[in-house]
Amino acid sequence: MHHPFLATNRIYLRRLEQKDIDGSYFQWLNDQNITRWMRHGIFPNSYEAMKGFYDSQAISRTDVVFAIVLQDKDRHIGNIGLHAINYVFRSAEIGIIIGETDCWGKGYAAEAISLLASHCFNRLNLNRLSAGAVDKNIGSVRAFEKAGFCREGISRQAYFCEGDYHDCVNLSLLRSEWLKKDHEQL
Ligand SMILES: CC(C)(COP(=O)(O)OP(=O)(O)OC[C@H]1O[C@@H](n2cnc3c(N)ncnc32)[C@H](O)[C@@H]1OP(=O)(O)O)[C@@H](O)C(=O)NCCC(=O)NCCS
Repeated sequence: MHHPFLATNRIYLRRLEQKDIDGSYFQWLNDQNITRWMRHGIFPNSYEAMKGFYDSQAISRTDVVFAIVLQDKDRHIGNIGLHAINYVFRSAEIGIIIGETDCWGKGYAAEAISLLASHCFNRLNLNRLSAGAVDKNIGSVRAFEKAGFCREGISRQAYFCEGDYHDCVNLSLLRSEWLKKDHEQL
């Protein structure tokens, strides 16, 4: 394990590090299969754009990005970010990417969301977490739901992907709901 911050038996989260930009992470954002339902994938990825993103989140008090790493072989498989942290409203948004496609469908996204949510409610003293996913991105919606998020509405035609406009499914999880959840279920 390298600089672990939060961990389960299968994964750990650590702060994204500059060296990650040189790893497979760069190509995740060029892969149209991965970015299919994301805002990425419109222009080719660039080292400068990644470095700019890395630098801004590294010193930010409102955005923090974690690498999702498999305990087995210390493999960096994705990122999970906490964004727009509001210390007055005690809210934040979560975004996630599992970039190693052979790791899809193994429960890693739901596990990482749940792990981060636990930290948000138990240590950061947040009250509300939110997320958004294209309605066609079944895996993303389901991963958030599995971690306890519920659908609270849609933003109509908020995305343009695969030649058409798509609604964004808005999801959220409140601290009161988190406290009632059976955390052994995942
Ligand atoms: C969407 C994404 C985060 C899901 O990650 P994942 O690790 O595969 O998700 P999980 O394994 O935790 O899956 C959670 C649930 O969704 C289901 N699921 C995952 N991918 C699915 C798919 N493509 N179609 C249908 N169901 C899917 C899983 O079976 C699981 O449900 P279950 O426990 O009831 O069987 C991942 O595919 C990804 O990063 N995609 C590209 C980037 C992206 O779209 N990010 C999200 C932007 S909002």
